[in-house]
Amino acid sequence: MTSGRPAAVALDGIAKRFGAVVALERVTLEVGDGEFVCFLGPSGCGKTTLLRIIAGLERQNLGTVRMAGRDVSGLPPRERNYGIVFQSYALFPNLTVARNVGYGLATRRVPRERIAARVDELLALVGLARHRDRYPAQLSGGEQQRVALARAVAPSPALLLLDEPLSALDARVRVALRAEIKALQRRLGITTIMVTHDQEEALTMADRIVVMNHGVVEQIGTPFQTYTEPASLFVARFVGRMNVLAAVASERPGWARVGRLELRHRAGAARPAGTRLALAIRPEEIRVGAPTHEAVDNRVAARVVTVQFLGAFARLSLALPGDGGPELECDLAGDALADAGAKEGAELALVLTPEALRVFPEPT
Ligand SMILES: Nc1ncnc2c1ncn2[C@@H]1O[C@H](COP(=O)(O)OP(=O)(O)O)[C@@H](O)[C@H]1O
Ligand SMILES: [Mg+2]
Repeated sequence: MTSGRPAAVALDGIAKRFGAVVALERVTLEVGDGEFVCFLGPSGCGKTTLLRIIAGLERQNLGTVRMAGRDVSGLPPRERNYGIVFQSYALFPNLTVARNVGYGLATRRVPRERIAARVDELLALVGLARHRDRYPAQLSGGEQQRVALARAVAPSPALLLLDEPLSALDARVRVALRAEIKALQRRLGITTIMVTHDQEEALTMADRIVVMNHGVVEQIGTPFQTYTEPASLFVARFVGRMNVLAAVASERPGWARVGRLELRHRAGAARPAGTRLALAIRPEEIRVGAPTHEAVDNRVAARVVTVQFLGAFARLSLALPGDGGPELECDLAGDALADAGAKEGAELALVLTPEALRVFPEPT
């Protein structure tokens, strides 16, 4: 996208209604050549609709779709040069694995020997060479999805579209296939757009994430950017875990009240005293047990309500002072847990590091 070359996919002002339902509101974004982009958002936010518009399976009410500079807005799917994989495997049940993978090539009248060579190459790449003569019903879900991937990329399309390709699989297979899809995508250098509602999937696989909510793009950024610098309270809550505290801007600029506490937050736009705000901090950003001689803002005493052991770390639920005061989630690795003496009922000295305490204009 930085070069003079046109984007692999460029969407401009895409809007879509279904009767009274607004599925997409003027979505504009670009996907670079060879990039892996995830559309991430809760169910019903318009991810599939946007992917189907790119594919030409659905027609937008407004806006244009370009692929490598070519306006494809009005073209049928077969003239758009992409491969697609859906959540349900959608393989041809009466064709062998090899014939499924070779299907797109056969319909393009590619010579038999070339089809066989390409099928063998792709089956090796997805680790299914020995299953070439099986039928879909004789494969596991993960294997069927590998076949669907191989089938989608066999004709060497310019673009790979994936709609929740891992959602129907077991947790273990899903995690393994994340890495495999990513490796295949890198290997082929194919521009890829994947729809998912799973933030972990998007964080681990995408070069850039498009976070969507109610048909609107809330943020476009790298996984690191969306995690560390969420552009809105919605993104802050949807990507990763986040503690959100209802707050009110103080007289002191840069400070806000949360119940009886006054906390300094990250620098941001000045807000009149009394403005309702939301403060947000991640569970792993809360400091436990800062030495008392250290001069720091935002020291807070909290009581440990529960300790959940999660293997590599423990997740504490902490009650801030005050009756029915807010609770915070705090993640501690094993050693830190022991050092802090974090048992249920114990009092802990916390620091809500101001630089970690993000501020959003919306109240919670
Ligand atoms: N063919 C359709 N007819 C009517 N409403 C639809 C149709 N497809 C999607 N919608 C609606 O559009 C919105 C976005 O749907 P969708 O793109 O499938 O969301 P997502 O993939 O993010 O779960 C939802 O409110 C959904 O009910
Ligand atoms: Mg969907």
